[in-house]
Amino acid sequence: MFNNLPLWPSQASSLSGNVDLLYIFLILVTGLFTILVFAVVIFFAWKYRQAPDRHATQIEGSNALEATWTLIPFGIFMIMFVWGAAVYMRGVQPPPNAMEVYVVGKQWMWKLEHPEGVREINTLHVPVGKDVRLTMISQDVIHSFYVPAFRMKQDVLPGRYTTMWFHATKTGHYHLFCAEYCGTLHSGMIGEVVVMEPNEYQAWLSGNVNTGTLAMSGEKTFAELGCSSCHRSDTQGRGPDLAGLYGKPVALDNGTTVLADDNYLRDSILNPGSKIVSGFKPIMPTYNGIVNEEQLLSLVSYIKSLSQPQQGQPAAAPASVPVHTGRTQAPSAGNTKVK
Ligand code: CUA
Repeated sequence: MFNNLPLWPSQASSLSGNVDLLYIFLILVTGLFTILVFAVVIFFAWKYRQAPDRHATQIEGSNALEATWTLIPFGIFMIMFVWGAAVYMRGVQPPPNAMEVYVVGKQWMWKLEHPEGVREINTLHVPVGKDVRLTMISQDVIHSFYVPAFRMKQDVLPGRYTTMWFHATKTGHYHLFCAEYCGTLHSGMIGEVVVMEPNEYQAWLSGNVNTGTLAMSGEKTFAELGCSSCHRSDTQGRGPDLAGLYGKPVALDNGTTVLADDNYLRDSILNPGSKIVSGFKPIMPTYNGIVNEEQLLSLVSYIKSLSQPQQGQPAAAPASVPVHTGRTQAPSAGNTKVK
């Protein structure tokens, strides 16, 4: 729609069109009323200009007039509110079964990690036509993950996971910006999102050096830190069994219940004393300063995989897909169509 208008980034996600329509509506409404107000001011200034034989007359209130200028703007604002809320809600609720990518922001780069274990810096490869959910965290200050072509922007915070999702609709290379001033090289904290055909994406995945899935490296860390000596499935475990935990409500010893989501798992590793599971003692030491954000993500991914028997398998390319042998970046540069 706006491919030839350089002021408008290309529309490359399922949300782009919705956001643009709303934006155009806002510009039209505000533009029309600006013109209307200026026209009326100029017209009245001329019509009621000072004249020797004219005297001011007092005007009494008019209920009809007041109702009109209250209800019409109210109606227009309600349209903006409901429309905007609908687009927003769609943008913040990732569909179930979206493919997951983990993002760690730091001064001044983006580190991206696919569940299959492939890591990237400042470049994110994704397949076209798939829902992709990003779970993001910062290891220092607040950053913001911004892909204009997808019309998506989300703050990336230290100490808490935030998520965003998109469904890319067009292959190509798209700008990735940090949209939160984060220090000296903020303006250099840029990269790109490469949207590829699904089979090219699979080839790219399998063409990368891969040390095992994220969940597998989480499992390794889990064993190395000795977590498995307490978190066991038998009754001897001194900590809660973690299998099947993810996504379920957890009863705490203070009588409340929390949902075992990504943030809860992360919190429980760093501040084990803050939320004690009912029936257990606060004996777990903190791992704050011992595990970094990437290890935390892999631990969270591992604990998640304990609830999803299908996950944790490397999503290797089917045998029929030709595997590019040029290792790291082979399919991305030459073969991806840029529109
Ligand atoms: Cu990171 Cu600005």
